[in-house]
Amino acid sequence: MESKRIAGEKACEAIKDGMTVGLGTGSTVFYTIERLGMLVKNGLEIKGVATSIETEELAKKWHIPLLSFNEVTEIDVTIDGADEVNHAFEGIKGGGGALLREKLVALSSKQNIWVVDESKVVDVLGKFHLPVEVLPFSYKYVERELLERGIKAHIRYQADGEIFITNNENMILDLEVYPLVDAKKLSNELDSLSGIVEHGLFLNIANQVIVGKKDGTIEILH
Ligand code: A5P
Repeated sequence: MESKRIAGEKACEAIKDGMTVGLGTGSTVFYTIERLGMLVKNGLEIKGVATSIETEELAKKWHIPLLSFNEVTEIDVTIDGADEVNHAFEGIKGGGGALLREKLVALSSKQNIWVVDESKVVDVLGKFHLPVEVLPFSYKYVERELLERGIKAHIRYQADGEIFITNNENMILDLEVYPLVDAKKLSNELDSLSGIVEHGLFLNIANQVIVGKKDGTIEILH
């Protein structure tokens, strides 16, 4: 999609020689990685840190040198997509199931740039079900605990009907949270619930959101 491509490519302007770059996951950051690959081919010297196996494979295809997350202490810039972002830069991520590694990489980054098409910018979060990564051992427990708090959870399945399993061998529950008016409160609740490995609320993380629009223009939100 054109609006994803222009947003994804625009973010590459922030990348300079010598940087360690967090590489997000998804169909928008796909264009970022593709462009970075071309820049690397033309001499840009960077090291990437992938947030998923899918991204690792894509970066390898483009010969972008990679470091494992354990090899880095600090990442200069991470470029990633989002499923929803509001005007306070609170975001929902994990539509592709990569939220755990994405959050770890984001939290280790000096700067986080999100690349989205305009449909992702919302006034109120939660129309997109909130992804939560859970241990297969205890997903029923988490479902019950959430329901007690009034939150309905749906197990994520693949297109072929099999349960979706993350890169970390966990499951994803997609939560009905609309309208999410107090993201901080829900984030704290989910953080304190045993059996949840990570959730897709990304608060106080994005520094800049690059929005690609259908009319071919780009808006940069700071
Ligand atoms: C991956 O798990 C997600 O957090 C993605 O970053 C998010 O779903 C955005 O993906 P798209 O750019 O494909 O919409």
